[in-house]
Amino acid sequence: MSSPLKLGILGSGKGSNFRAIADAIAAGTLNAEVRLVAADFEDAGILALARERGYRAEFVAPGRFKTKMEPENEHRLAAMLRDAGVELVVLAGYMRMIKSPLLDAFPRRIINIHPSLLPEFPGLEAWKQAVEARAVRSGCTVHFVDGGMDTGERIDQAEVPVLPDDTASSLHARIQVAEHQLYPDVLRRIADGRVKIG
Ligand code: GRF
Repeated sequence: MSSPLKLGILGSGKGSNFRAIADAIAAGTLNAEVRLVAADFEDAGILALARERGYRAEFVAPGRFKTKMEPENEHRLAAMLRDAGVELVVLAGYMRMIKSPLLDAFPRRIINIHPSLLPEFPGLEAWKQAVEARAVRSGCTVHFVDGGMDTGERIDQAEVPVLPDDTASSLHARIQVAEHQLYPDVLRRIADGRVKIG
């Protein structure tokens, strides 16, 4: 078997996708290792979860912007990931746009999971957008990250139905079940070379 794919995970929230990835690694169904988990909020659940599981977890202060990291801070994050030997950066609920310090350091080596069938409903609270648009189906998409908002090349998607009595949160819960299957599955395909990274 080839050597494990070295992952750096970035998140802002509770980290359920990270948990699904860590579980797949622990179960021996994903040939990868988590080198670093980083978050832009000191109290993000994903950092607590990473520490619980014995992974290196780092808070990286974002700086003064809301929608992106300050370039200097993103440079620091990129250096941290590189120094940790990370081969693939996995966004797992990371809520800021990725800019050139990280994009240039990891060309075609950053992926994201988005809670809709892109190109439908890019941006924030995609599950709410789907309910408000009375969509009959939604789902999640794993894609490469480029400079745009959820615009990078799509790798794979999983579909879920939107039910007539769905609320934003019941739909999000159903999408998350699909995410927890899809993300480890795409990582498996990257780890064994079926999906090529940069
Ligand atoms: C997921 O729904 C993901 O699609 C979106 O942010 C959410 C993160 O959830 N990008 P979690 O922190 O992995 O639980």
